[in-house]
Amino acid sequence: MATNKIDTTLVSAGRSKRYTQGSVNSVIQRASSLVFDTVADKKRATAGRASGELFYGRRGTLTHFSFQDAMTELEGGAGCALYPCGAAAVSNAILSFVEAGDHILVSGAVYEPTQDFCSKILSKLNVSTTYFDHCIGSEIGELVQPNTRVVFLESPASITMEVQDIPAIVAAVRAKAPDAIIMIDNTWAAGVLFNALEHGIDISIQAGTKYIIGHSDAMIGTA
Ligand SMILES: Cc1ncc(COP(=O)(O)O)c(C=O)c1O
Repeated sequence: MATNKIDTTLVSAGRSKRYTQGSVNSVIQRASSLVFDTVADKKRATAGRASGELFYGRRGTLTHFSFQDAMTELEGGAGCALYPCGAAAVSNAILSFVEAGDHILVSGAVYEPTQDFCSKILSKLNVSTTYFDHCIGSEIGELVQPNTRVVFLESPASITMEVQDIPAIVAAVRAKAPDAIIMIDNTWAAGVLFNALEHGIDISIQAGTKYIIGHSDAMIGTA
């Protein structure tokens, strides 16, 4: 199959007819509750609610599904979860993988509210955080503990724009904790200037509020 260049992907991603219903652009569908013709249709929707079946607004509309497809194609992932803002994407991505007694490693230069979430909220759930020097490389391996579940990166970093040595970090973490989930807040590379998943990172998160929205007029988060 031919692989599109990035410019083509940017204008064509997410335009499956299933979601555009034949129009060129994605349809704008605003909905909470949906109406089904039969109970069987409703049951089918319930069964497929996690995989692009219209079910209930919180699970997404054609507009959301189209955008999720576009993000998956752009970042090369297995799928994309949407959130009302970037902070929600960051906190929910971390919360999805930790439980009481776990430890996480977080770069000391990440977006401040991400640090607040770890220090003020995760700590109350008995999840401990070690902040590491943003410019650390393979030495991160020395900070991995037996209960380290998540390693959280952000590159370029908020405010300082420091770039992390991702290949060295990923290799060192994988060597010590192969099952740890490595996440990156990829906001400042917009998900296209740095392909996180190709570099062995498990989850690429964006405050879509920034480059995806592009005009400072809406908020969204992706992971
Ligand atoms: C790097 C980064 N991550 C996350 C966020 C949070 O995004 P939001 O404001 O959409 O909650 C921001 C917002 O400035 C950010 O700059």
